[in-house]
Amino acid sequence: MTDSMPTPPSAGANATERFLAREMLGVVEVAALAAGRLMGRGDRNAADQAAVTAMRQAMGNAPIDGKIVIGEGERDEAPMLYIGEKVGAGSGGGGLPELDIAVDPLEGTNLVANGLPGAVATLALAPRGGLFHAPDTYMDKLVVGPTAKDAVDIRASVEDNLDAIAKSLDRNVEDLTIVILDRPRHEETIGRLRKAGARIKLISDGDLMPAISAAMKGSAIHAVMGTGGAPEAVLSAAALKCLGGGIQARLRWRHDEEKARAEAMGVDPSEDRVYSTNDLAPADEIVFAACGITTGDILTGVRYFGGGARTHSIVMTHSTGLVRFTDTIHMDRENPGAVYLN
Ligand code: FBP
Repeated sequence: MTDSMPTPPSAGANATERFLAREMLGVVEVAALAAGRLMGRGDRNAADQAAVTAMRQAMGNAPIDGKIVIGEGERDEAPMLYIGEKVGAGSGGGGLPELDIAVDPLEGTNLVANGLPGAVATLALAPRGGLFHAPDTYMDKLVVGPTAKDAVDIRASVEDNLDAIAKSLDRNVEDLTIVILDRPRHEETIGRLRKAGARIKLISDGDLMPAISAAMKGSAIHAVMGTGGAPEAVLSAAALKCLGGGIQARLRWRHDEEKARAEAMGVDPSEDRVYSTNDLAPADEIVFAACGITTGDILTGVRYFGGGARTHSIVMTHSTGLVRFTDTIHMDRENPGAVYLN
């Protein structure tokens, strides 16, 4: 640690959580600023690489003793932010908070590549052991807001869950909007949702931010259903826990090799096991942060101007119960210019 580096307060868990929330805001902001420059270039890998490099650099300077538990892949396939990588100024000791970190420097690589809505730079952190070390596979997910979280069951039928969600919100199934990834694997579920009369929002990519919407009153999204990334399920759980919403998820292996690899790492390979919000994010102290890259339902994307750029982020903490939206103007000191507010 250098003399100029901010140090975490010693006044208990809440103070540390608030301190980490401020630090992590800067980390997601720089990743969004880097990836946003590549919007619409048609190159998802370049956009992802830009976000990863920026996030890794910012994380390296953070006053934490962090370990990546969900990241860009195994060490042999990802040079930065790989699973098990130590990050932060305190890696290797030094009395800084020991944290497990789940990162998705660019959630929605295709969205950025094509200039489509809803891409974010995001991460969640918790004390060691506080986040499920999800393998890089799929999970079948059911995400709902606070009123429905104890009324739904991912093992029940689509129709029963729609009824339970509608009842919890004191409305009809026809008045619900369900988000689901537009994939052939969801053909049957989409058919059943349609037959039951629910409104559907089909998305091309990015099921994490809709999960947050499902737990926000007034978002006009009432649930997320279907199979998507397991890492995104853990990030969703961290956010949903802060918001009082709920996720239920089951592992869905894409192939046997993936399953065997995860089993060797100690993951129960059963596809029947239902993971709850608390299974995916068991910690009490949690920080979740996301910064918009392209404008979506909750966050505005990065706007660049002559003298800098403007970002919009959400940072949530569980034990302190804070949900903060932050609108930041990043002044370019080398090239100062007027601050544009749109
Ligand atoms: P990226 O990793 O390209 O950003 O994609 C993210 C995502 O759309 C998730 O939000 C979603 O859970 C998952 O991919 C869906 O996977 P697939 O595109 O293989 O159906």
